[in-house]
Amino acid sequence: MKWYAFLLLLPMLAAAPASADENGARLFAPCRACHSLDPTERGLPGPNLAGVAGRVVAGDPAFDYSPVLRKARDDGLRWDMPRLEAFLADPAEMFPGLWMSMRGIEDATERTALVRFLSDPASR
Ligand code: HEC
Repeated sequence: MKWYAFLLLLPMLAAAPASADENGARLFAPCRACHSLDPTERGLPGPNLAGVAGRVVAGDPAFDYSPVLRKARDDGLRWDMPRLEAFLADPAEMFPGLWMSMRGIEDATERTALVRFLSDPASR
């Protein structure tokens, strides 16, 4: 291959799909307006999400949750991976009366990447 043929390949290499982790970080960007993954950060409009995967629902002790999430906590619900994925598909459908105004994420691949990002401390 002549050297300049490689130049033609460069744009294609740049367009290669990002890894799942990069996708997760990118997908979490809009959530950062209301949520932090830094356990010491307080005062955002939404609960702290550090360690949310596996945590009991409504598990940030410093956050004043809606009645529907407090009831889920009293019922002993936990954020396992399938529940997080289903939640992100349509938050208000899972918890009618939820105080989180966010439309669901339609793409299942995106939901999986985001939940993986949330459950992997190394990816932050
Ligand atoms: C406009 C602010 C806002 C945005 C943007 C937002 N959230 Fe929330 N989120 C909230 C609020 C407020 C709650 C608590 C809802 C309640 O008490 O009903 C919440 C709750 C949650 C919970 C449950 C937490 C727990 O402790 O049980 C998860 C998980 C969550 N959000 C994930 C996300 C993800 C992922 C995104 C981005 C795709 C996102 N949120 C975007 C405001 C937001």
